[in-house]
Amino acid sequence: AKLLVLHGPNLNMLGLREPGIYGAITLAQINEGLVQYAQKAGHQLDTFQSNAEYALIDRIHAARTEGVEFILINPAAFTHTSVAIRDALLAVSIPFIEVHLSNVHKREPFRHHSYFSDVAVGVICGLGASGYRLALEAALEQLAAS
Ligand code: DQA
Repeated sequence: AKLLVLHGPNLNMLGLREPGIYGAITLAQINEGLVQYAQKAGHQLDTFQSNAEYALIDRIHAARTEGVEFILINPAAFTHTSVAIRDALLAVSIPFIEVHLSNVHKREPFRHHSYFSDVAVGVICGLGASGYRLALEAALEQLAAS
């Protein structure tokens, strides 16, 4: 199957950005690990990062025509603001798992609300980069069962 991993704003800065919260791993390292894991399991995985809301929306729309069957998304700060990205995911009706590196629930109150969680298949947060791999495992299990 085809899977897509989407990363929101400032995640291109991983490795440099608040390492106490987000760790030392870079986005390139996270993506490489996911692509390899998916390939070994016989699937195709694409990754995309943008700091622009419209670019993430356009990528979600393109996923439908490409036949993407599952999305993993860390909407980053757009988690707490973006009705538009939520609507894009609902528009294409591709199932998705929401991932956050940090445990947003033990951080500032404005990070406690997500525009995605109530329409996600599931949510993983607070487990760092492992969260993406765990989300990928869960996505592949879901695809195998469907
Ligand atoms: C984040 C949490 C968000 O609150 C924050 O704006 C981010 C990253 C995470 O992965 O922990 O940019 O999504």
